[in-house]
Amino acid sequence: GKGNFRHFMEKELHEHPVVIGDTLRRMVDPSTRGIALPELPFDFARIPRITISACGSAFYAGLTGRWWFEAIARIPTDGDVASEFRYRTPPLPDGGLGLLVSQSGETADTLAALRYMREQGQHVLSIVNVPESSMARESEAVLETMAGPEIGVASTKAFTAQLVVLACLALAAARARGTIGAAEEAALTGALLEVPGRAADVLEKDEALQAIAARLVQARDVLYLGRGNCFPIALEGALKLKEISYIHAEGYAAGEMKHGPIALIDPTVPVIAVAPSGPLFEKTASNLQEAAARGGQVIVFSDAAGAAKLKGIATETVVLPDVDPFVAPILYAVPMQLLAYLVAVLKGTDVDQPRNLAKSVTVE
Ligand code: F6R
Repeated sequence: GKGNFRHFMEKELHEHPVVIGDTLRRMVDPSTRGIALPELPFDFARIPRITISACGSAFYAGLTGRWWFEAIARIPTDGDVASEFRYRTPPLPDGGLGLLVSQSGETADTLAALRYMREQGQHVLSIVNVPESSMARESEAVLETMAGPEIGVASTKAFTAQLVVLACLALAAARARGTIGAAEEAALTGALLEVPGRAADVLEKDEALQAIAARLVQARDVLYLGRGNCFPIALEGALKLKEISYIHAEGYAAGEMKHGPIALIDPTVPVIAVAPSGPLFEKTASNLQEAAARGGQVIVFSDAAGAAKLKGIATETVVLPDVDPFVAPILYAVPMQLLAYLVAVLKGTDVDQPRNLAKSVTVE
């Protein structure tokens, strides 16, 4: 049941800390605090390329994974939504790795992408939440997200669990390829282990989010901006808002704004920035400056240092705990989803069963 929560989605949002922790526990050795994945039927040192396919939020998790694989394991990685990927018939290198991401393990297009990858001689690894699913059965290897049943149609805890698996997989790949040293691996693993506690902090303090939800509920269109490994989190925030509040939202790479979407910006279009401190922060800050100069309401999600730098241009600010930029996408996903939930509640929509959507899309 829903317990004391108004909706399954609210209950499932509050499970983020536990689910992230449970998923990590499967992949981190508690004594060494190093990554310890189950045995995989391939050697990352010999993988020429990773190809990721999935749909919806699971695809955004995959895009974040792509960033991690490239940045820390230095593996060429490509990704596409399954409905495009399966018909693009991309040639894939012998012995490459095909990676599928899915909560249900039954999404028709993702399953077709899996079969295509097998035909193309890829090792096939699925990240699924349902270990008895079709994708799990048809894969060479499976890594399970420990999210438990997800009832709300809009994915929440399964998404952060997918991110955790992908981050650990990228760390394992980096170790196999010698692209990071033991000290860096320990630091990044340590950063992952801090996420459950930080996610709990975010869920506890939602007053700032309430005020922003009250603003968003008035909007017809909302723009979400992010860069680097947080660009997919902007996409996730926008998708979630569309799905459950029916407000039109777009996620954009912050640097793309001036190539089109900036034309939309006026005082009625809130701009939500997923902007943790990190190597790309100053770039995002200058994009936000441009939005503010055009009268946009800039709503900043950052840590204390980032929030201080954006004080002059932000209409509203949500200060999130400090985390290593490597794990920021996992933490920042939590307030994005929670914000969409709060807006939907204000709107009075059917949060757990949004119109026209199904939990598992088993037809193409
Ligand atoms: C978004 C959402 C959908 C799913 C997508 C894939 O909130 O729930 O976009 O992520 O339909 O579903 P799975 O992960 O079951 O393959």
